Amino acid sequence: MTTVYLNGEYVPKAEAKISPDDRGFLLGDGLYEVTPFYEGVPFGLDRHLERLLRGLSFTRIDYDVSGLEDVHLQLVARNGLDRAERSMVYLQITRGAAPRTHYFPETPVEPTVYAFAREWSRPPDEAWNRGFTAATVPDRRWSRVDIKTICLLPNALAFQAARDRGADDAILVRDGVAIEGAHQNFWAVFGGKAVTHPTTGYILPGITRGVVMEEARAAGIPLEERPIQIEELEWADECFFTGTTGEVRPVVEIDGRAVGDGRVGDVTRRLSDAFLARVEATKEAGRVEAS
Ligand code: PDD
Repeated sequence: MTTVYLNGEYVPKAEAKISPDDRGFLLGDGLYEVTPFYEGVPFGLDRHLERLLRGLSFTRIDYDVSGLEDVHLQLVARNGLDRAERSMVYLQITRGAAPRTHYFPETPVEPTVYAFAREWSRPPDEAWNRGFTAATVPDRRWSRVDIKTICLLPNALAFQAARDRGADDAILVRDGVAIEGAHQNFWAVFGGKAVTHPTTGYILPGITRGVVMEEARAAGIPLEERPIQIEELEWADECFFTGTTGEVRPVVEIDGRAVGDGRVGDVTRRLSDAFLARVEATKEAGRVEAS
């Protein structure tokens, strides 16, 4: 039985009821976070909560996040995911339930807070080693996608368009620039240098992206944050995505064309290995802390 968290209580999922007046449901007026756990140890939870805090401040949703770390840990424990190799907690906060108006409720309402935990898996090594495909799709999102809102219709349409074209994932393109994926950040490698879009309102500042940047610096891999023109992808040596449930994911074909030599490249492998080593170290530290 799945136990979820709703507005201060842990309840069986079938008993979790949300008002049809919820502004998340009616208006997409809410935020979310997805935080990974490895064998029950959270990875980057403080960074995810910081990003959430920035979103709450931007959207002017008044909510005290101090109890949320415990909600994450409880959900993983209550769903028996302590030993799961990979799991995650999805958390959503909306402005709450109130008669539908475009402006905020005049009488303040409690935000709706919903969270669940579940397992996810890394693709089998042979699939990862073969690499993944992507299709470019126009980026039709707003100009503040640095805020992790639940308004994911453009992301869903983009991902589906890529799937309809037989690709594993989408690369969102705005004004000729490869911005990011539908649910992951995008990187290209040119002559050994790892390049990714700078943190503006046009990308989500991914937690995985930040960790991979730190690992690149530590490994002495040259790094640059700048927009990547789609024409440049023709001479990119490697491409990859980063994200919570994708980790470091190689892209070997874009719009039916091989990236570089069509094989997973050396920089992608080194960054993936460094990322996974960081995960191992976090797990180890978490186990020591718990004992
Ligand atoms: N997606 N870009 C977008 C548009 C995203 O939705 C995400 C995360 C990322 C990567 O961010 P992070 O490294 O913090 O996971 C980049 C989440 C996981 C999702 O929607 O399921």
